[in-house]
Order: sequence, then C-alpha cells, then structure tokens
Amino acid sequence: MDHFNYRDGQLFAEDVPVAEIARAVGTPVYIYSTATFARHFQVFDEALAGMDHLICYAMKANSNMAVLRVMARLGAGMDVVSIGEYQRARLAGVPGEKIVFSGVGKTAEEMRIALEGGIRQFNVESEPEMERLSRVATELGKIAPITVRVNPDVDAKTHAKIATGKSENKFGIPISRAREVYARAAELPSLQVVGIDVHIGSQLTDLDPYEMAFKKVAELTETLRADGHTIKRLDLGGGLGIPYRRANEAPPLPFDYGEVVRRTVGHLGCEIEIEPGRLIAGNAGLLVSEVIYLKEGEGRDFLILDAAMNDLIRPAMYEAWHDIIPVIEPDVAAEQRPYDIVGPVCESGDTFAKQRPLPAMGEGDLVAFRSAGAYGAVMSSEYNSRPLIPEVLVDGDRFAVIRPRPSVQEMIDRDVVPEWLAE
Ligand code: LLP
Repeated sequence: MDHFNYRDGQLFAEDVPVAEIARAVGTPVYIYSTATFARHFQVFDEALAGMDHLICYAMKANSNMAVLRVMARLGAGMDVVSIGEYQRARLAGVPGEKIVFSGVGKTAEEMRIALEGGIRQFNVESEPEMERLSRVATELGKIAPITVRVNPDVDAKTHAKIATGKSENKFGIPISRAREVYARAAELPSLQVVGIDVHIGSQLTDLDPYEMAFKKVAELTETLRADGHTIKRLDLGGGLGIPYRRANEAPPLPFDYGEVVRRTVGHLGCEIEIEPGRLIAGNAGLLVSEVIYLKEGEGRDFLILDAAMNDLIRPAMYEAWHDIIPVIEPDVAAEQRPYDIVGPVCESGDTFAKQRPLPAMGEGDLVAFRSAGAYGAVMSSEYNSRPLIPEVLVDGDRFAVIRPRPSVQEMIDRDVVPEWLAE
C-alpha cells in the first residue's frame, strides 16, 4: 500500500498533486511519501510483535537525510555498509547501539570510526575481517560486538545479481564451517560474540527460502550454544520483495514473514533484528518525468522521456519492471497503445519499458514510475553529464525539496583541471 493515488482526475502524493511538484521543482524528480515510509515500518513492527526485535532500516535503499530522519523518529535502527552510511545514521540521530555494520569489505578505518562512535554490532563476513577487527578493537581498548554472517546455501529464487545466499556468492562464511569460525572468534581478543547473521538476497517473492535459511540458523544457534557461545541475537537480514507489477504480483506480506520468523526461531529467546530496505522505501517513492518527444517509428512508437538510465538504473541493470502511469488520470474508456519508453542517453540499454500499453501520450505529458523509492536515487549517476535529479518529500499537504538539483555549472566545477593543462 502507498499514498500515491488518483484524485480529482490527477495523481496525488498524499495530499499534494504530483503535477504541482513537477511544476515547482521541474522534472525529472523523485517524490517520496512520509506516510508510506511510516506505514511500512509499522507493518514490520506489528509483524514481529511479541518478539523482542529491532528493525534496522537498510539505508542503502534510500539514504537521503530527510528519509533517515523519518525512520529515526519512528525508532528504527539502521543497517549500514560503509562509513558514509554510518555517519548518515549518526547525523540523522540514530544512536550507535541501534546501528549494525554489514558488508564484505570493511576497512580498518571504518572499524575504528564505528568502534569509537558506538556500534550495536559488526556483522563479520570472513575470517580475515574478524582478525582485523580484533586487532583494531585491541588497539583502541574496545570490545567489538560481532555476529558472523553465515551463508546457508539456499536458493533465494530472485534475480542472480541480487541473490546472496548460495555458496557461490561472495557473502558470509559457509554455514558448514560456522563452528570453527565461531571457535576462532572466541579465541581472538577484544571480540564479543553476540549472535548470528544471515541475509539471503533481495526482492524475494517466496517465503520458502526464508523458512529454510531460518531453520538452519535455529539449528546453528543450538549447536553454537552447546559449544559455549552466547547467541542472544539473530540478524535475519532483509530482502522481502514488493509488487513492482501491481496487476499480477502479490509477494508475501510482512505479517506472513513475521509468522515464518516466529515459527523458525521464535522459541530460541533471541532478540530478532531484520534489515529491510526495499519494503520500507520502494513503494514510498515515484520518479516523475516529462515526455520530451513522441517519436513514431516503423511499427514502434517511442516515448522519449527527460529521465534516463542514469536516474533509474534498475530496468537496464536487472531488467526490472516498474509500473509507469500517466500523471493525469486516463479515462477508463481511453484506448491504449504500446510504447517503447526510453531516455535520452546514448545507449540502447536506456530503455525503461518495451511495448508498454498506455493511453495516447505526447510532448509535455507527465508520467510517474512507481516503486522508485528504493535503489532509485541512490544508484543514480551523472552519466552523459546529466546532473543528479532532485528529491522531494511529501508529508500530508506539504512538501519540501530534500536534495536540490545541482546546476550544470556546479557539476562541472567539481572537476579540477591541473595547472599544466590550463593554458
Ligand atoms: N541487508 C543486507 C546485508 C543487504 O545486502 C541488503 C541488500 C539488505 C539488507 C536490504 O535488502 P532489501 O530489503 O532492500 O531487499 N540494487 C538492487 C538491490 C540490491 C540489494 C543489496 N543488498 C535492486 O535495485 O534491486
């Protein structure tokens, strides 16, 4: 569910007409709904009710400071994967004890800053990382709380580029080696084992892989406890999918996911952490773009938009589907025509959709990409020297630009031409 609906013949973001924002801020523009972020957080919170839990928003999905403030005010913890993300979480007002540090390549510098600033736990992904963390913590005279990310070797049945729980993926340590790795952790100075971490992939549309992975984690919890380790916390990762195609997709609901958690690990008396990103942010955002040209080709009509693959890379990178709808509500009886919907970038991959049925559209019309709140703005680039596009946050009947559009000159001015090339 989200708060982008047609009302009085046009698309609204909560109580603000999308066209009004487009007029005020220009296009392309990302528009987010505060109420939708909050709702998704609450849905997870309710799904885990009765279990001691912390929802650590995976900010890689959308790390705008205003969005992080919304999440922090709801009481969310955060899952971070770089010191940049760690600093964002802290500046958004999230205390260190609610921040978990994930990622396969944490540097000593990142470990140092997090240990000094305060951290809930490091989700350690390899033995060399564990050794380094032990060294850094010892140097600082600190104790580093850790979980080890185990790779349960289950097939998440999602796009290959975002599956992480198979043994061929770079993530975590094989679950079969967990006992030795935990034994090593117990020997190393300045580390304190607090639990187990698992994350099997993103955009999961089936609960079975979760069920399998969490069962393995439950077994491992008992084994490690028998070995003498303290396992008081289970980080179950993120990954629950969202309906990108509203017409024919109904991924599992957080409530049912909560039931799987309860059924598989609920009896262990552990504190449960989850790290949802997409399900919190995905449907809380639109990308709004204007049609620059209607190009009628041979047997194919192209809608050339002012947004491009640099603004929203998901279709080019993962063949991802985003629903694309007109901002002016089409008449129900309006005839639909198939369009190829493309951006202005000089690559054939700059195609958002092929043969997508839409009512007749033309120059100056606005379209909205749904489900663009996660992995949209954060994955954008300035390819083709296109400045990053602005982000707007709506809250009820008010809206604010939460990242302005830089001018072309500002973009160019970041480059430095050395003196010897100046003449
Ligand atoms: N925790 C860890 C350790 C992760 O690696 C990820 C996502 C998450 C949590 C959050 O997963 P989510 O709940 O958002 O599915 N750029 C891709 C998605 C990459 C996901 C990477 N890791 C996309 O646009 O589909």
